[in-house]
Amino acid sequence: MRNDPPLRLAILGSGSGSNCKAILEAIDTKKLPARAVVVMSDRPDAGILRVAAKFGVPTTIIDGGSKRSSLDPATERKLARELRGLETDYVVLAGFMRLVRQPLLDAFPRRILNIHPSLLPDFPGLEAWRQAIEAGVPKSGCTVHFVDAGMDTGEVIARAEVPVLDGDTPESLHARIQVAEHKLYPEVLRQLAAQPRPAGRT
Ligand code: GRF
Repeated sequence: MRNDPPLRLAILGSGSGSNCKAILEAIDTKKLPARAVVVMSDRPDAGILRVAAKFGVPTTIIDGGSKRSSLDPATERKLARELRGLETDYVVLAGFMRLVRQPLLDAFPRRILNIHPSLLPDFPGLEAWRQAIEAGVPKSGCTVHFVDAGMDTGEVIARAEVPVLDGDTPESLHARIQVAEHKLYPEVLRQLAAQPRPAGRT
């Protein structure tokens, strides 16, 4: 049996942090052989920072810079240095509302993951659950994928389906999708933890 050290995860988010909580619970209950080395947010008031504090995980605020939907290249370079310094195996985007670009993508090739609330490639972008309701599809779900320079376009790792029910609102569908997310993300990380550590870890 292999005896790898725990997978070292850096979790980045802008929101309430329910996916982060699911991952940290999986670590705490030994279902996921990993360690969260940091939780980072571009929003100083984000719930994800309180989630991290409850689990005793160190937190950092990312300087949002001048653009709303991406990071300044200098900030990304700094972030890449910090994440490398923490010997991060995987950067886990969990509701991080900014696009990640070249300096960071180059620093962590196929080592940045995201979870998206639709069955990609359907409904990339914002409020995917609302897009699904408006399109009238019978099912939706969530997708964990590697991050590339596009918006929700990276290689798919795993998906989980949920039904769209009669009378669903965008909110009720999102709540059902989130239940699936909270199982899928820790499970994907568990599978990655069972594989040899990614090349490039320093
Ligand atoms: C999730 O629905 C995720 O799919 C999307 O952003 C949301 C984050 O929610 N990328 P939370 O902060 O993990 O609760």
